[in-house]
Formats: sequence, structure tokens, C-alpha cells
Amino acid sequence: FRKGKAPPSDLRVNLRIMKEASKVVNMVDIEDLGDKVSYCRCWRSKKFPICDGSHNKHNEDTGDNVGPLVLKRREP
Ligand code: FES
Repeated sequence: FRKGKAPPSDLRVNLRIMKEASKVVNMVDIEDLGDKVSYCRCWRSKKFPICDGSHNKHNEDTGDNVGPLVLKRREP
């Protein structure tokens, strides 16, 4: 990402995940969530839909500021 230059507006969010599908939908049973899980919102994770930290490089490269959705169980 070059300072002063906006990224092209026609870039797709999803570059490579399940491109054969007409829509990417992930279903997770609430009972299987465990105590804490981070879901990717940058579409760059190699473990999609789980966040693998790839958002850091994406943000660095593009000037974006995206991060995961973190689901965690409330402390008892
Ligand atoms: Fe996509 Fe973390 S890898 S939000």
C-alpha cells in the first residue's frame, strides 16, 4: 500500500475461498464453540473461517484495519 494511493475500488473481498460456491456460508454448532474462538473477517486466513492472524499482513499491505470476531464464554 502506497501512501496517498487508495486501493482499487473493484477489488473483491474474497480472493480464493470456496470460489466454486455461489455464496460462502459456514455453519458452526454453538455447542462446539469451546471457551474462545476467533473467526476471520478479512477473508485471508488459510484456516478460514478461523482467524490465523493473516489480517495483520493484509492490514500492513493495504492500510486496512480489519480483525477477527472473537467469541468467548463469559467467566463464571
Ligand atoms: Fe482474517 Fe484474522 S485472519 S481476521
